[in-house]
Amino acid sequence: MKLLAAAEAFAKEKLQAFDAGHDWTHTERVLNLAGHIQQEENAGDPQVISLAAILHDIADTKFHQGAETDGGDMAYEFLTGNGLSKDKSEHIRKIINHLSFKQRLENSPIDSIEFQIVQDADRLDAMGAIGIARAFHYGGYKNRALYDPEVVPRKYKSAEAYKKSDAPTINHFYEKLFLLKDLMNTATGKKLAQERHDYMVSFVERFKKEWEGRM
Ligand code: ADP
Ligand code: NI
Repeated sequence: MKLLAAAEAFAKEKLQAFDAGHDWTHTERVLNLAGHIQQEENAGDPQVISLAAILHDIADTKFHQGAETDGGDMAYEFLTGNGLSKDKSEHIRKIINHLSFKQRLENSPIDSIEFQIVQDADRLDAMGAIGIARAFHYGGYKNRALYDPEVVPRKYKSAEAYKKSDAPTINHFYEKLFLLKDLMNTATGKKLAQERHDYMVSFVERFKKEWEGRM
């Protein structure tokens, strides 16, 4: 089996246990977005980008009882075991381990163009219409309120505090989703993020109007 196809099969199997906001279709969208950005930017090693996108969520710690680095380590074992060079496998391990928002809060940067592209793609899938759907899906999975005007959105100082938050889902827009557009790395990512951002902003405005019976 070709490495990409083998990686897809491996990721599909690992992702089976996750909720629909974080399943194989999320990975597939990230793979497609990363490919699109790679072509537009005409930069980065397409093989590293594709493999990192495919394997980026195989051990999400919200669903996986492991250390924050498990995903990258699992990917590294898989890739070297399937004949990829140690250099490329190590690069992919780093990309995966540094991807998550929580890791960014903990501040351990890596700056390869391949990392930047996969990170943009992953962040874009948390934005726009898909991002709205995923947020409410996740909120439902956690049995959170849709909205509560009494609960003020907050800033998280640590990854632990962010993980423990049980705020209503609308707060997630202020706490994370509206911040994403300013975190994009590539020009293509920025452009796509701005469109998705504007869409989310008008959604939340309208949501509040309807909530208050003004519409
Ligand atoms: P990542 O792995 O990219 O850092 P997460 O695993 O934190 O992202 O989130 C996966 C999806 O679930 C995203 O679409 C995100 O917006 C959503 N999500 C995460 N935390 C919350 C929350 N507290 N409320 C609503 N949606 C959330
Ligand atoms: Ni992801």
